[in-house]
Amino acid sequence: MIDVKLTDEERQMLQGERGLVPRLCMEWLVEMCQIAGTDTIVELDGTGDFHTPWTSMTFHHDFSLEELKKLADSGARFKIPTFANKSPFTEMSPVHGWEGCDMRCKSGGGRRFDDPVFHEQSMHAEFYAEFRKMGMLQTHSCASYLTAGFLPTIGQHCSWNESSAIPYCNAVLGARTNIDGSFATCFLGKAPYYDMHVTENRYATVLVDSERLIHTDTEWDLLGFTIGEDCGLAVPCITGTAKPTTTQFCKLNAAMNTGGSIRMYHIPGSTPEAPSVEAAFGGKAPARRVVIGERELRATYEKLNYHTTDIVDMVYLGCPHLNAVDLMLLARKLEGKRVKVPLWIMTAPWLYDVARNQGFLETFEKAGAKLMDGTCPAAMGGVPDYVNCVAVDSAKQSYYITGCYPDDDRRLEVCYGTQDDCVEAALTGKWNGEWRG
Ligand code: F3S
Repeated sequence: MIDVKLTDEERQMLQGERGLVPRLCMEWLVEMCQIAGTDTIVELDGTGDFHTPWTSMTFHHDFSLEELKKLADSGARFKIPTFANKSPFTEMSPVHGWEGCDMRCKSGGGRRFDDPVFHEQSMHAEFYAEFRKMGMLQTHSCASYLTAGFLPTIGQHCSWNESSAIPYCNAVLGARTNIDGSFATCFLGKAPYYDMHVTENRYATVLVDSERLIHTDTEWDLLGFTIGEDCGLAVPCITGTAKPTTTQFCKLNAAMNTGGSIRMYHIPGSTPEAPSVEAAFGGKAPARRVVIGERELRATYEKLNYHTTDIVDMVYLGCPHLNAVDLMLLARKLEGKRVKVPLWIMTAPWLYDVARNQGFLETFEKAGAKLMDGTCPAAMGGVPDYVNCVAVDSAKQSYYITGCYPDDDRRLEVCYGTQDDCVEAALTGKWNGEWRG
């Protein structure tokens, strides 16, 4: 049993002298410290996000709406800027673009996502009114950082919660987080001090050399998944790539934390804590060196493609959620065209409005494509029943979507490839993607 170091105020909270919610949150925090093997609590000075409503508010208590109202009315506020991850509650309904979404919600008792009554209920407006009172910003995205308009800066301690976002915070922004974003951490402004909060743990341990100059979105996606599988929990330092764009960082992050559990990495010259390879390793020698070339990338490509048919029933783009530039570029590709099979395009709710204002939404609608937000097929529990084969351009989505069908009574097939391959599949209903080394 670890004796967690507490301030007088923390001890009072733990003893219930500051009310029920602080006590429950402190109990959770102390328990998390025990699990993490640390006796230290870190004060957060960055940002937080969590899967609403409660992600681990406490281990042992689910709050009712009445209790939440009481809390918000008492003047209680989140201690750090706090954002909502993905769609409300477990239904994972799209915030926009749910109309005509021909699919049932598994966690919503099989009700249809496109039932207006169900949609309204699944938004849980009353809960979010209270959360907003407490200071939550309803971004509802796995990539809230794309829309938040307020990002943590280098060295700030955060508490985020989304596998694809964690490396964005650590590696791209140079802020510090573990995957522990929760009601408790955001409410208290405190988190267990371990792993990525600690400078020594952020140095690279594995040197990853890419034999080919990684520069396309798909190459970054494949490289990420390949590194994740090889490195597991290590911190890689990646060399031999071009400088990634924002989109490519997002793809890399999502794929690395899917193939493995990479929450931190360095790309010398691109990420802030690695001005050089030496700095990335903190002056130490790499524990090992990995070389990734054509053979490894191709093996990953083939692993992510599991289909016996070239007939595509649906195409999904937007894992992680597309940013504003992605939406613009995709709208260009669909300008004046018409899809043959459903094409779902996913973004963050706040960017849905941007897409509408910029005319992208109109372009998508004219092309017969569906712009949605806040969720994704993997989060929604799968794809519509008529879909036997879905095409995606994301390693993470390819990996998780079949997990929605754990029983062998339905084997969803997946075509994985470039965004252009996916757009072509949407326009023709046929998969022509192939490894183009
Ligand atoms: Fe986001 Fe779903 Fe991918 S939540 S990162 S779009 S699996």
